[in-house]
This record gives sequence, C-alpha cells and structure tokens, in this order.
Amino acid sequence: MKAIRARILFLIPAIFLLLSANAFAGAIMISGAMEVETEIMIAALDNRREHKIGVWRFVSGEYKGCPLIISVTEIGGGNAAASTALGIEHFQPSAVINQGTAGAHHRNIHKRDIVLGASTLDIGARKVGGDNALLGNRVYDASSGAFVDKIDFPANANLLEIAREVGRSYTHGKIHEGKILTSNAWHCKKSVIKRLNKQFGSLCEEMETNVAAQICCDYNVPFLGVRIISNNELTDEEYDRNIGELCQEFALEIARRYYETVK
Ligand code: 5AD
Repeated sequence: MKAIRARILFLIPAIFLLLSANAFAGAIMISGAMEVETEIMIAALDNRREHKIGVWRFVSGEYKGCPLIISVTEIGGGNAAASTALGIEHFQPSAVINQGTAGAHHRNIHKRDIVLGASTLDIGARKVGGDNALLGNRVYDASSGAFVDKIDFPANANLLEIAREVGRSYTHGKIHEGKILTSNAWHCKKSVIKRLNKQFGSLCEEMETNVAAQICCDYNVPFLGVRIISNNELTDEEYDRNIGELCQEFALEIARRYYETVK
C-alpha cells in the first residue's frame, strides 16, 4: 500500500511537468506588420494553429520541420511592442526575426534589395531641432536587474551570420548590411532622408524593427531585423506593398537554418 502511494506521489509532479512543458520549445517567432508581410509564411506552415493573444494574431506550425510562430504585429511601434512582449511571454521563442518593407535612405539602395539589420536605432528618441543627438531608450539589463539607457540595438551574431549566408543565393536584388532606422514617421522629403543618412549612417527606415529589438533585449531573446526595400524617395521609386512577399521567403530560410543550430 505504501509503495503504491509513493508511486502515485511520484507520478503527480511528473504528469504536471509533462502537461506544463512548453509545446513550442525552440520555436522561432517571425513577425511582420501587415498581411502582405506575413501571409506567405503562414501559408507555408504545416499543422497550422491560430492563436489570438490580446488583440493580436499569431499562427504556430512547422516549416520544413522547424517550429515557427508567425506574429502579425500590425503597423507601428506600439503594436510591435505589445505583440512582441505577448508573443515572448506566451511562446518563449528561441529567437525573434522581425521582417517587412522599408524605405531606402541612400540612392544606391533599390526596390527589392534586402537590408540585414546589423543594428537598429530609434530616431524618434532624440532632441529634434536641438543637437539632434539620439537619446536612446530604457531597457532591462538582467545582470544589474535595472533599466539602463541604450541607443544601438545590435543583431544577434549567429542570426546575422546565417542571414548573410541566405543572402548569397538571393536573386531579386542586392544585399546590404547596416542600420535600420525606426520611428512612427514616413519621411518623404529628400533633404530630410539625406540628413538622416548622413547623421546616423542609416540604410533604410520603417516603423517596427527597433521596438521589437528593444523588447527582445528586455527579455534577452536573440533578435534580427530584416527589411526589403519597397520604396526609395531619393530615386523616385514608388512604394510597392507586394514586395513584402519576397522578404518572407528570406526570413523563413534564416529561421530554418538557425533552428538547425539550436535544436
Ligand atoms: N517609412 C516608414 N515605414 C515604411 N514602411 C515601408 N516603407 C516605409 C517608409 N519609407 C513600412 C513600415 C510600416 C508600413 C507602413 O510600411 O514598417 O509597417
């Protein structure tokens, strides 16, 4: 009788552990703001499952054996912050790749070119009209247990290296590597874009990357931003939202190869 009771007592925590284990362990979360930036990835998933967390859509599944969470963030920093934090809390991904469209900040960067975000800056966080210096953001530092100032958010080195490898077989345009500038603004004036490029060395601008990077930094989750150029105001290349489709295939391949290194 005693032996049976001991066995039951042993089994209860074991069953509890089994049930509470993260069903998405090791999964990589790829985010995109709009449907045209996420629908190809969602369609490519096996065993697709829809999740709604808060008001944001997530779709889990597998791509060529790699567990993925596709996060549809909706446009802008606020949405990117909330959905990235909720996605990390819920799925505990092993990495986050934020991808989508962007406007070029240089004459030599064209539509369909891809920018690998070696780092990302928040250009909203500066004293505009003063010295225009970046102020940075407050992010959580696990070693000191406090929020600290941070201006530049570098990409995870493994993710970036894998992105370079994937870039070697990209045929729709050139691959660039450098800074992605984020704010909730869409700059149209050539003189302003030129000034931003000169001051910050930016390759492109968009509205979500830096915010997702900040949240990943808070949670200590490896991060990479990848953007495809959908418009260039400097060369009068007009916005084409459908270009976002090409970046999704690129991001899927980065995730698949990264998963091979962490599984
Ligand atoms: N400036 C700002 N955001 C841009 N986007 C594409 N091009 C630009 C640009 N030139 C992206 C943003 C946002 C949506 C409006 O398109 O990241 O999600």
